[in-house]
Amino acid sequence: MKQISLHGSRILIGESADNIREYLPSSQVIIITDGNVRRHYSALCDAFPTIEIGLGEPNKTLATIDHVTSELVRLEADRRTFILGVGGGIVCDVAGFAASVFMRGLPFGFVSTSLLSQVDASVGGKNGVNHKGYKNMLGVFAQPQLVICDPQSMSTLPQRELVAGFAEIVKAAMIADASLFAYLEENAEKALQKDPQTLEHLVYEAVKIKADIVAVDEREQGERRKLNLGHTFAHAIEKNTALTHGEAVSVGLCKVAQLAVMLNLMSAGEQKRVESILQRLTLPTTVDVPTPALCAAMRKDKKKSGEAIHVVLPVGIGRCEVREMAFAALSYLLSVDKPAVIL
Ligand SMILES: NC(=O)c1ccc[n+]([C@@H]2O[C@H](COP(=O)([O-])OP(=O)(O)OC[C@H]3O[C@@H](n4cnc5c(N)ncnc54)[C@H](O)[C@@H]3O)[C@@H](O)[C@H]2O)c1
Ligand SMILES: [Zn+2]
Repeated sequence: MKQISLHGSRILIGESADNIREYLPSSQVIIITDGNVRRHYSALCDAFPTIEIGLGEPNKTLATIDHVTSELVRLEADRRTFILGVGGGIVCDVAGFAASVFMRGLPFGFVSTSLLSQVDASVGGKNGVNHKGYKNMLGVFAQPQLVICDPQSMSTLPQRELVAGFAEIVKAAMIADASLFAYLEENAEKALQKDPQTLEHLVYEAVKIKADIVAVDEREQGERRKLNLGHTFAHAIEKNTALTHGEAVSVGLCKVAQLAVMLNLMSAGEQKRVESILQRLTLPTTVDVPTPALCAAMRKDKKKSGEAIHVVLPVGIGRCEVREMAFAALSYLLSVDKPAVIL
């Protein structure tokens, strides 16, 4: 088991969820989970009062926060109550947000059960919900006291969800770690077969990259923006397709790699490596979304300021930079190689 500390958060990688009681406070504990995860963690959920939320992105809303907080009132939660989110990124985002606003903030932690939430969503202290078509528009920065990343969770995780997590690992490698990228290229098949040692190594390295960035810029004033690599496109793609968040990130990474080649930040060979590792990990690299629909969705991104938006661009593999780009320029670049349909 390995531990990473981040702004008061203990992130335990390789720890079993069965040992959770060793880390919980003696005060009241209330679990928040979803129906799928509850089936696989029934012993844990039966041991504590449990609030269940609906499945999927359409449930990451204020209506769900309303339901959760009503349940917290019914269960007589007070300021010492510890909220434990047990689930993937949606459960973690909802549980962290509900805990942070209920009575001005309860302590909380996560048993992070999807690969995507282990490498990204449960780490870093961003918690929030979507609002009126705006992704993650309502939220807070608040660190979980505890995050458990149990490799055993992967055994029940559907393959499509596992693969979605790989997209965020490729993102982390592209941002800051060429050797992690090379490790993925060498071990893609083992990762797809859920080899425990390979997965644990990938989770640890990806969390470390995120933690190092968040440690210097918790509130996203500068450096943390890099973690949004591929996400401006991904959020727009999520809105226009049925892709999962991770799948949309994969397409978004290919798109920023294409832009980086056009802007002479990346070689064509490096762009090919990005596309090829994502394909080997069985992730999508293209999707048909008309440029106007994509641009309209990007205008709803939190990172936009007036007619411009911050775009994170890869610089080779293992580095990136943030540039403010006008929508007009972005829309032009997006339509250069395929005028009618992009991506
Ligand atoms: N807060 C952040 O910093 C941050 C970072 C990245 C992503 N996110 C958010 O995370 C969300 C996506 O997370 P996700 O992909 O984990 O989605 P998710 O929570 O919907 O989980 C994916 C699916 O897998 C199921 N599942 C989870 N763990 C399981 C397990 N061990 N066994 C069987 N089934 C399991 C879930 O019930 C769900 O159906 C998005 O809303 C995204 O915006 C947040
Ligand atoms: Zn993401």
